[in-house]
Amino acid sequence: MLPLVMKKTPSGIAPLIQVDRRAREPLHRQIYNAYRAAIVERALRPKQQVPSTRTLASELGVSRIPVLNAYAQLLAEGYFEARVGAGTVVSSMLPDEVRSPQHAQASTSSRRCAAPVPPNSISLPSMGNILPWLGPRLGAFSPGQPAFDQFPFKVWSRLVARHSRNLRPPSMHYGSPMGSNGLREAVAGYLRTARGVRCEAEQIMIVSGSQQALEITARVLLEPGNSVWMEEPGYRFARALFNLQGCQIVPVPVDREGLNVSAGIKRCKNARAALVTPSHQYPLGVTMSASRRLQLLEWSHRSGSWIIEDDYDSEYRYESMPIASLQGLDRGSQVVYIGTFSKVLFPSLRLAYLVIPRDLIERFLAVRFTFDIAPPNFFQSVVADFIREGHFSRHIRRMRLLYRDRRSALLNGLRAQLDIPIDVTGEQAGLHLSIKLPRDFCDHEISERASRQRIWLAPLSSYYRKRPSQQGFILGFSNTPAEDMPRAVRKLRDVIHPR
Ligand SMILES: Cc1ncc(COP(=O)(O)O)c(C=O)c1O
Repeated sequence: MLPLVMKKTPSGIAPLIQVDRRAREPLHRQIYNAYRAAIVERALRPKQQVPSTRTLASELGVSRIPVLNAYAQLLAEGYFEARVGAGTVVSSMLPDEVRSPQHAQASTSSRRCAAPVPPNSISLPSMGNILPWLGPRLGAFSPGQPAFDQFPFKVWSRLVARHSRNLRPPSMHYGSPMGSNGLREAVAGYLRTARGVRCEAEQIMIVSGSQQALEITARVLLEPGNSVWMEEPGYRFARALFNLQGCQIVPVPVDREGLNVSAGIKRCKNARAALVTPSHQYPLGVTMSASRRLQLLEWSHRSGSWIIEDDYDSEYRYESMPIASLQGLDRGSQVVYIGTFSKVLFPSLRLAYLVIPRDLIERFLAVRFTFDIAPPNFFQSVVADFIREGHFSRHIRRMRLLYRDRRSALLNGLRAQLDIPIDVTGEQAGLHLSIKLPRDFCDHEISERASRQRIWLAPLSSYYRKRPSQQGFILGFSNTPAEDMPRAVRKLRDVIHPR
């Protein structure tokens, strides 16, 4: 005889509701109000399971009747929905007043009191609401997104399964603060071969994203009050980090040859460091010329300043071979090199690497250890095998062809459909290009309009520190299939109007 299996209706966790039997307000109303407030304040989220009436009544120590009444009211008003076989959940189609995130913010912000945030740093929890294009949005033109659907899921799953099966006590303990030897060897081999970086595995530190690499670097090399050259326009997240560190940012203009070193020297000859993206300047996309590279290195040797090279998407070049790193040209160990797996694999992996000048390894190690002891072991092993077994280079080769097609589709679309003069830069490499618009256009307004159509245009002006700034957009092309590009560009055309 088959065992009798009773199918249980799932029951959610009971929320914190306080009922007061002596209050004048009836119990069912107290329960109703508590739920409504929790939903409005987004403590309870759409589709979240709520407890059965029996469970809640027992938790609250009341009879089932007031709970049934409260649930009936919440169902009738659309806060709850009943799902056959799945019990009761918070509605996925909430009343309008609840859906707006501003509403939730307004109701909580008056009670919050936090340490002041330094000017120009980025307020992360709210940034997706205030600047719609800045949140992690999937869709046409959103920068920095590899083609997620083209990821080699099968190979990856196989490697993940292999490492899960083979999990043994030694790899369950803290690993080395520098990262696993396997991955450091694999990264060093890749960087020497494909990026012309002069390094040995002992100089590689595995970190959780370039952002952590920058943070550790800033802690080691910089003190509050130090001046730092930053490309103008430049990478906002780095700017925010240097601000947080109390550094003085010196914006140095970027032209068709990259960072204008002479302008930097004029503005602040003795800056302690310069952050550069020489392979594909962020955001304009220009490549730093050979003469500027040499000039920058010479400045750093003369002034004893550091160069921080952020080589975030250099794997992808479409018209020539990738251009070797700046670090590889340096003969004096003045360059700290940063690379990431965010663009070749995927950003939520949070794996990146630093190449540290030998005499600084101990100091980097000490800072890293203080922050988070060591990087997690598991995905380091997976990525090390992914590189060693050749999947990494195969994936890059495949994506290079795919992104080249997507980029051509974007360029063709822009040429065919935009009837205003635009200046395109940075299309030779990476996952995005930039367009500059004439002055009578306001990129922020256009970006607002576009976000209502669910296209995410990053306004170029917001990457400038100084005003007046150039108007335009950074257009990511890597996560939009070539056949969808004409439609996306039509949408772009339709939202672009002069002020
Ligand atoms: C200039 C620049 N550096 C680095 C990164 C990658 O950052 P992470 O490795 O923290 O994901 C990005 C991502 O968009 C970037 O634009």
